[in-house]
Amino acid sequence: MKLGCCYYPEHWPESVWAEDAARMAAMGLSLVRIGEFAWSRIEPQPGHYDWGWLDRAIETLHAAGLKVILGTPSATPPKWLVDQMPDMVAIDEQGRPRGFGSRRHYCFSHEGYRAECARIVTALAQRYGAHPAVVMWQTDNEYGCHDTVLSFSDAAAASFRGWLAARYGTVDALNTAWGNVFWSMEYRGFTEVDPPHLTVTEANPAHWLDYRRFASDQVVGFNREQVDILRALSPGKDITHNFMGFFTEFDHHDVGRDIDVATWDSYPLGFLEQFWFSADEKRAYMRQGHPDIAAFHHDLYRGCSNGRWGVMEQQPGPVNWARFNPAPLPGMVALWTLEAAAHGAEFTSYFRWRQAPFAQEQMHAGLLRPDSTEAEAADEVREAAAILTEIGPQTTAQAPVALVFSYEAAWVIGIQPQGQSFRYLELVFECYSALRARGLDVDIVSPEADLEGYQIVLVPTLPIVPEGFAEKLAALECPVLLGPRSGSKTTSFCIPEGLAPGDLRAVIPLTVTRVESLRDGIAEAAEGFTVTRWREDVTSDLAPDLKDGAGRGVVYANGNILYCAIWPDAALLQLMVERVAGEAGVALLDLPEGIRVRRTTSHMFTFNYAAEPMWVPHIGEMLEPTGWHIAPL
Ligand code: GAL
Repeated sequence: MKLGCCYYPEHWPESVWAEDAARMAAMGLSLVRIGEFAWSRIEPQPGHYDWGWLDRAIETLHAAGLKVILGTPSATPPKWLVDQMPDMVAIDEQGRPRGFGSRRHYCFSHEGYRAECARIVTALAQRYGAHPAVVMWQTDNEYGCHDTVLSFSDAAAASFRGWLAARYGTVDALNTAWGNVFWSMEYRGFTEVDPPHLTVTEANPAHWLDYRRFASDQVVGFNREQVDILRALSPGKDITHNFMGFFTEFDHHDVGRDIDVATWDSYPLGFLEQFWFSADEKRAYMRQGHPDIAAFHHDLYRGCSNGRWGVMEQQPGPVNWARFNPAPLPGMVALWTLEAAAHGAEFTSYFRWRQAPFAQEQMHAGLLRPDSTEAEAADEVREAAAILTEIGPQTTAQAPVALVFSYEAAWVIGIQPQGQSFRYLELVFECYSALRARGLDVDIVSPEADLEGYQIVLVPTLPIVPEGFAEKLAALECPVLLGPRSGSKTTSFCIPEGLAPGDLRAVIPLTVTRVESLRDGIAEAAEGFTVTRWREDVTSDLAPDLKDGAGRGVVYANGNILYCAIWPDAALLQLMVERVAGEAGVALLDLPEGIRVRRTTSHMFTFNYAAEPMWVPHIGEMLEPTGWHIAPL
């Protein structure tokens, strides 16, 4: 695995570039991402390009033996461009334009802005497409960051109407699919349909779901326009986009199909602080991150682009954007780097080379301090680089477990949670964590993926069952566990005929007759687990395999297919992992709290995420906090 960093030559005097480049190379870095926010310097006036500085920056990096990942600058349209077409900005759900003065102030549907992006990407690709130092392109930066996938602009509304017309053909078909007779919501033509915001009470969930699908397609189309230009003008160079953590606002599997390498931005401490983790977990892992946060995304994004993936931005110290921003434990940056290698990353690039003394991110650590002295992470990068050289390139094989992840499922649950603690990402993450806590390697795959060859398949929930999915499951002989709400909606967000689980009844003959959600703090005791958050009443000729305290069915099995009718708490997940692993003949490990393992084709990696030294039985060794153990297989 290679190492790299994110660098902003436009932030620093040209006189320090050569020294920066030499220091990067000496630290063990070989890749440098540049350019993704530099539009105002590349084109300071409309149509007047200033390539000189970028030519020299790339040459300087090249001369030091570094390779360049060049970003397209479409995340930061300059002021003159916004002034030229003020309606290019996104409109938020409250109907307010999103102003200039930070970044991502554009609407994916604005044709004029798209044409400007095509122009600047063409100019960049013509200039640098064949440059020997440029090995990869990054399109834009973090699509959707700062809540920017959904826009309610006129441009978005117009494109949405066209999207609906293409999907439904006639407005009657749309009215029927959405059930618009309810509350007299029927339309006489597609031109009457608006985005689903600013309604008096909740809009029709089918309307929302189509708006989310449409918005996701807009991101895909926006990205594809850049990809097509880059492919034509810079043939043979890889294309990536840097995805985010715990982010489901567009379908990353769709974007992933158009690029060569899926990358993501790994900020484990920020994510621990910002997401649903309990106060105890936030305390226990505040300087390490929850042991599954980085791994979860490594495995998710490896499944997004044909197995090729990397970390574009790795947290090197405290970040600036979470509610609280602690420093990682000494050694943690090296551990995060090795964890990426253990999951088969092609590279890890640190964000950023030098901390900026000005503007929004001045409190965000880099590998260097603003005064150019080395920050804490620099030694750890050298250490990781040495270990990576020693162990050589790492590749991963198909994991024993497939965890099915669906962006559409995240939208469905988000639109109609029915109980506010039913959170899709949390459910998937808990399942993932339950598997990893027992030493299992996991591939996180899309519902379209080939499931052949897996020993265990886990579907945390899949409310809308894609065509052919039930048949695919029927063909599997391995244990398959389906979670609650699977098959509970049709493609147009209705209850399926014959009730849930709809098409899945072909593999698990049962009917969900009623569902209930439980408020936080309610935990109904059962044998070995508790019922929290969500419970379904099930009728079936199958006798339940597991019951709750009141004797109601919780888990049903039809041969190798299992269905779980409640939100599985950690204890139930462990029972289920033991059961499916037992049936599949897959060995489990009893890992102490905070210990995780991952196997490549050549090595087994063991990591200690706990804040204390831990005795690790399978290696017969004590691991210090942030300690690791790497052994050939
Ligand atoms: C990412 C973003 C970077 C920088 C970083 C700070 O979301 O891509 O440009 O803002 O966060 O942690």
